[in-house]
Amino acid sequence: GSGGLTDRFGRRITYVRLSVTDRCDLRCVYCMSENMTFLPRAQLLTLEEVARVGRLFSELGVTKLRVTGGEPLVRPNVVSLFERLGALPGIQDLTLTTNATQLPRYATALREAGVTRINISLDSLRPERFRAITRVGRIERTLDGLDAAQTAGFNGIKLNSVILKNRNHDEVVDLVHFAVDRGIDISFIEEMPLGVISEHDRAEAFYSSDEIRADLENHFDLLPTLEKTGGPSRYMRVAGTPTRVGFISPHSHNFCSDCNRVRVTPQGRLLLCLGQEHSVDLRRALHANPTDDDRVKQVILAAMDLKPAGHDFDLEAKPVIFRHMNATGG
Ligand code: GTP
Ligand code: 5AD
Ligand code: SF4
Repeated sequence: GSGGLTDRFGRRITYVRLSVTDRCDLRCVYCMSENMTFLPRAQLLTLEEVARVGRLFSELGVTKLRVTGGEPLVRPNVVSLFERLGALPGIQDLTLTTNATQLPRYATALREAGVTRINISLDSLRPERFRAITRVGRIERTLDGLDAAQTAGFNGIKLNSVILKNRNHDEVVDLVHFAVDRGIDISFIEEMPLGVISEHDRAEAFYSSDEIRADLENHFDLLPTLEKTGGPSRYMRVAGTPTRVGFISPHSHNFCSDCNRVRVTPQGRLLLCLGQEHSVDLRRALHANPTDDDRVKQVILAAMDLKPAGHDFDLEAKPVIFRHMNATGG
């Protein structure tokens, strides 16, 4: 109908996250297990199918698309997807979450395709730590990618830092100084228990947004704002600077009641909540209706009734959600 997508709780869905691959050139400890097996390529949606999904959602009233992974920029030909999505008239915000390693190669093409904003994952400024958290990464590559994004001139560049106690919690002040120096935003993220990981105990590594904020307030004047970017971050401004510091607090300040988003996995599962398994097989609907867009839209509309009230992440309770973040897209 003309009312767009609304769930049983009256939440309007205007934001869709499209994960285009579970693969990545990094192996962040909170995101993947050490010996990850990746999905067979034959199970993935084609980029044409992903673009069709984006178009159908836009025709259903979605205005914001974010392309995620794994690392979206390791998917061959991914720029062609951004070009298609960038041409959709209803999309006001076309965004991407990336580890930045491929941005020296792609930043300009992405900007030209119509990407408005980019979120770059960066958890540490110290080379050895960056390596330990990503298992294989070199920080220089990510910083080169950030430079390329700043040169290409996006409307907004934001860092994402997952903060883990005794791993990088002592770097939050340095990370904000870095964001201020660069004139960009930064969000701090409480780790979510997706998939079994080996390096640390997620409950022991928990470091809350309130602790981060207290650490920052010893060094910065943080002003409350009501600004939103359409995602889960709640922002404060560093006084006297354009930099916003965001807090993504799934554990300490649950944000599910005003959730506006759903996600599509690389295999074409329409997942109604990051922290639950309620889903619909969109790939099957696409294959069954290669030309009948209305049928697929009906499947999407009906799926909204499956969206649960929220996650029930519990850091103490095992098991967690068994799918890893890289197979989900965040
Ligand atoms: P903006 O458009 O800049 O607001 O981005 P975003 O925060 O929506 O997206 P991004 O990909 O940067 O994700 C940042 C963090 O938020 C990641 O850890 C995501 O997993 C998490 N996140 C995004 N949406 C949800 C959600 O609906 N539920 C939960 N629990 N986490 C989410
Ligand atoms: N918990 C919270 N954030 C995570 N990310 C990856 N895995 C997790 C997790 N388990 C972050 C990445 C990236 C974003 C998409 O999600 O660092 O910035
Ligand atoms: Fe790759 Fe992002 Fe997962 Fe790190 S968080 S392993 S960069 S997909």
